[in-house]
Amino acid sequence: MSRTAVFQRIVCLLALITLLACIPGGVLSEALPEESPVYEEPMDLALVELNRYAEQVMEQKDLSFGYPGNLDIHLTGFYEWLLESGVYSVIANNAGDPFDNNETYMNTLNFEREVIEFFGPLYGFELDDLWGLVTFSGTDGNNHGIYFGSKYLEKKTHKKPVVYVSDAAHYSNMRLADLQNLDLVLVPADEHGCMIPEELEKALVPDRPALMVYAMGTTFKGGIDDQEALNAVLARHPEIEVYRHVDAALFGGYLPYTEYADAVDRRVQPFDSIAISGHKFFGMDEPAGLFITTMEVKNNQNPYEVTYLNGSMPMINCSRSAITPLKFWWIIRHTGFEGFAEQANQMLETAAWLKDELDKLGWPAWLEPMSNTVYFKRPDAAIMEKYALAPDYDERLGGELAHIVVMQHVTKDQLQLFLDDLQSLQ
Ligand SMILES: Cc1ncc(COP(=O)(O)O)c(C=O)c1O
Repeated sequence: MSRTAVFQRIVCLLALITLLACIPGGVLSEALPEESPVYEEPMDLALVELNRYAEQVMEQKDLSFGYPGNLDIHLTGFYEWLLESGVYSVIANNAGDPFDNNETYMNTLNFEREVIEFFGPLYGFELDDLWGLVTFSGTDGNNHGIYFGSKYLEKKTHKKPVVYVSDAAHYSNMRLADLQNLDLVLVPADEHGCMIPEELEKALVPDRPALMVYAMGTTFKGGIDDQEALNAVLARHPEIEVYRHVDAALFGGYLPYTEYADAVDRRVQPFDSIAISGHKFFGMDEPAGLFITTMEVKNNQNPYEVTYLNGSMPMINCSRSAITPLKFWWIIRHTGFEGFAEQANQMLETAAWLKDELDKLGWPAWLEPMSNTVYFKRPDAAIMEKYALAPDYDERLGGELAHIVVMQHVTKDQLQLFLDDLQSLQ
């Protein structure tokens, strides 16, 4: 235990002894008057613990480069509103369908629908054929994508689909196929994290529908599945009915505002649904996400009429947060398309700069097209720890790797510290 921690514990102990000695009716005295506010003192001790946690988090925040979360969060005004309005004192619950909602009883379904209507067109969905919801996370969005895809295909073909996903894709897709008891084919990815079209062709099961999960930005290398090439493979097998779900947890957040917008536009790449994390690009302060699909897909799900909710509930979860869609809505209103575009392009520019600087140092590094994730030969453990870097391993690229995800809070000045540390190793 550190000296500071020992000191803090002694202070707490002394405070507790003083407290117990002073409280009438406490362990050290005889009787407790009914109105005694004894609860305030243990709360102070709880605050000591909370403050210790806060101190640690705030210390880690600045140099946290290894994970795809935007730590440049601007929700102070939202929390002020929440407190001032009194809404904080309500259990606000979005049980229900945001696109089939006549009730506003302590829910924010109408705000949730507005959020989906803001983002849907950015991914090429038409407003009159749009359905979706604010999810708990990217994983929750993938769960909906795989569930909706498999039910849609089953309805069309009366056969259970096979799920195809690359072995570089996020593990949630494998977990969810397992959870939903679906047959899974892991298609090999190349050393840049992209599904290999020839391997897909070899793996296709001819008499079963195909539920494709395309990775638009793999977690570690930021590899983007080449939808065009993979769709060309599928087109050579017209007997196979196909549903395409895009797992765009991080990249789906920023690509619509860049020159690469077409990569996540279903008018160009004809996918059926897309999942994006809310806490990665957008600056939500807790896990959240978006799941967006068409009305056509939504209307081909197993209907479960729920009388007390006045309709058929297609989504997996009943109770859902009503506060999360409000935060999303707030962020959209305060950032807007222009703000997102500025952030997205800044991230890509900084990522390209970092890759150049690593090249100048002669440190093996890679940056995939459209990506904000620079991956490189793994530095020593002290640097990994200092910058909270995530590890990976790929024999094809020399073995041990690490990456930096250039999010909004990762600036060139901070990255220069990392580069200086790296240089001192050489
Ligand atoms: C490509 C990809 N998909 C899905 C996920 C899971 O998202 P979440 O953490 O929001 O559940 C991640 C998380 O990093 C990811 O990188």
